[in-house]
Amino acid sequence: MQEQIVALLTEASKEGPRYISGGDIAKELGVTRAAIWKYIESIRKEGGIIEAVPRHGYRLVNSEDLLLAGAVEVKTETIGREYVYLPEADSTNSEAKRRLRQQGSLADGLVVVAGCQTAGKGRMGRAWHSVPGKGIYLSVVLFPEDLPMSKASLLTPLTALAVYEALVKVTGLPIELKWPNDLMLNGRKLGGILLEASGEPDRLRYAVIGIGINVNLTEQDMPDTLSDIATSLYIEGGKLVPRRYLLQEVLRFLDTHYRGFVTLGSEPMLAEYRGLCSTLGKKIRFAWHDETYSGLATGIHSDGGLVVEIDSGKSLILRSGDVHCL
Ligand code: BTN
Repeated sequence: MQEQIVALLTEASKEGPRYISGGDIAKELGVTRAAIWKYIESIRKEGGIIEAVPRHGYRLVNSEDLLLAGAVEVKTETIGREYVYLPEADSTNSEAKRRLRQQGSLADGLVVVAGCQTAGKGRMGRAWHSVPGKGIYLSVVLFPEDLPMSKASLLTPLTALAVYEALVKVTGLPIELKWPNDLMLNGRKLGGILLEASGEPDRLRYAVIGIGINVNLTEQDMPDTLSDIATSLYIEGGKLVPRRYLLQEVLRFLDTHYRGFVTLGSEPMLAEYRGLCSTLGKKIRFAWHDETYSGLATGIHSDGGLVVEIDSGKSLILRSGDVHCL
């Protein structure tokens, strides 16, 4: 019911500042006005700013920024067909995996979004700093059919590409796509992807793809340890970015690339990724088997690995880890 009320209020907000009366909502949804009032209160608790004006009704003020179910329009085939919003989660990846364990199966493309994370996870055992109501924190659960485990890692560049395209479309900012999964802006990190997959060598059982984007965080929201290496769209662009629009675009681009991947294979997606990856052609430094190397990033392998020509002239393929552009 809450979802339907959010949807009605969001729809009304598209036509300018239009109020809907409690009576009209109650009639439309077949419940009492008292029940509507209770739902309005719970939507407010979850971040909805709802103005109530006597004799006019209710108006959702922040519909462009609201990520609640009912507000986010999901016009996709797979990604987000089922959509869960939680005001708070430890980590959306952990929440998705818990649901998978408890329920045995989940809808392909299930999206779990959290308003805030108390234990957000980054790659390589790092933490992901999450700020209530200012970032986008989501996980997508996928069950691609007949995909060998060795190809699961391709879901990382696929997702990075989709997030990159959504960011560019919504903000027009000079976003960079850094191998393997970093979204960068003006040399600092803006977003990242955490892929957790499980299965047998010949068949991926599930993939949980976590996406974190620093959207409207201010300099004050960044802990000292991150201020030199992390940034947000707001810090760089100087404007608040409507999180709902951005999330909708992320889901849409992800859906398009995922459908392409399932039907045509990975090459079309990799070709696009290669064209946009800012690491290619750059001199980089990286750790490899406890030693530090430098070399030239020359290509993206068909499994998503980074092909590097190291200074000794030999080529190697990096499949994980961090690279520093020199
Ligand atoms: C990285 O670049 O280190 C990956 C960051 C991934 C962060 C997102 S936020 C939503 C999802 N849930 C998590 O706990 N992590 C990912």
